[in-house]
Amino acid sequence: MTDYNRILVTAALPYANGPVHIGHLAGCYLPADIYCRYQRARKRDVKFIGGSDEHGVPITIRALKEGITPQQVVDKYHGMIKDSMEKMGISFDIYSRTSNKVHHETASAFFRKLYDDGLFEEKETEQFYDEQSNIFLADRYITGTCPICGNPNAYGDQCERCGSSLSPEQLINPRSALSDAVLVKKKTKHWYFPLQNYEPWLTEWILTDHKEWKNNVYGQCKSWLDQGLQSRAMTRDSSWGVKVPLPDAEGKVLYVWFDAPIGYISATKELTENWADYWCKEDTKLVHFIGKDNIVFHCIVFPAMLKAHKGFVLPDNVPANEFLNIEGEKVSTSRNWAVWVHEYLVDFPGQEDVLRYVLCSSAPETKDNDFTWKDFQARNNNELVAIFGNFIN
Ligand code: 2FM
Ligand code: ZN
Repeated sequence: MTDYNRILVTAALPYANGPVHIGHLAGCYLPADIYCRYQRARKRDVKFIGGSDEHGVPITIRALKEGITPQQVVDKYHGMIKDSMEKMGISFDIYSRTSNKVHHETASAFFRKLYDDGLFEEKETEQFYDEQSNIFLADRYITGTCPICGNPNAYGDQCERCGSSLSPEQLINPRSALSDAVLVKKKTKHWYFPLQNYEPWLTEWILTDHKEWKNNVYGQCKSWLDQGLQSRAMTRDSSWGVKVPLPDAEGKVLYVWFDAPIGYISATKELTENWADYWCKEDTKLVHFIGKDNIVFHCIVFPAMLKAHKGFVLPDNVPANEFLNIEGEKVSTSRNWAVWVHEYLVDFPGQEDVLRYVLCSSAPETKDNDFTWKDFQARNNNELVAIFGNFIN
């Protein structure tokens, strides 16, 4: 027995700042695809939503590194990602992108509604400014020495060597990642969303009403809620992104984590004129498939935004997988330590299902897991060819 009449499935929108690797598939896209294929087989009304996340610092960094514009970056990688997903049989009903017009309009209207309802706090704060490049630097653009492990190239939001989350204030000798300049502090105004106002509701909704969520998801939510939520800036100083729809907001865009999840709504609008049935009717079951680094945004920030806006359904479940390591080491894009899907497709033509099989046999469902080529070979030879092949024969 089900108490819903339609299912809306989303899979995290990958940043269009690089190709997708097999960790993305194992963590998010393959489980979502299997779930949707199962629901379709049961003749349920299901829509599977995906697309590229084309805003934010990862895109602008990539543009700087490659000496091209952010638009050129997203055009290049959106195409590559879409192609990899299709060839791997990820059966999206739509694979959209957040640089398109419907999305800009939808995200802008969403922000404006919260603003008109008086739900933002306007605050002026001091932030790190690079006087050589004349820009405010987002946390990712700031580098310095990690106070925990001494890594001289830690970022203002995270140290990739020891994995600690950081704030730029904690870095020793913070410098600009763009120009290497020593940074100054400068005043800037932003719009903050007071998450703490939603804390009592979130606590009840998650910790009491959703005890069935996966342990890793529930546990991370509990730890965020136990620490206490704070206001978060929902705008940034940048020229790339959805413009802040206010008269006194020149040079400001929506924070990428504000606009990206709204991308699920925009993509549904693009897919069907009945989009509101999926987003607004209480008998919809909304399920977000994500990787573990996206838990707080999908379980806390986005639901609070939806609640504040009013009129939208909330996720029924947010299945998040852990990470897939490669040959015992964490995936690292900067060190090119990954198995890229577009390269696999060239090296193993016609063997998409072998990869799907191996990745779902060792999916990182409850803990980080390891992918090795030895295991890939063994599963292909011993399980698919020998056991399954013989059985069919
Ligand atoms: O972590 C990421 O790759 C993000 N681009 C995921 C965004 S999911 C959603 F909010 F769009
Ligand atoms: Zn560190």
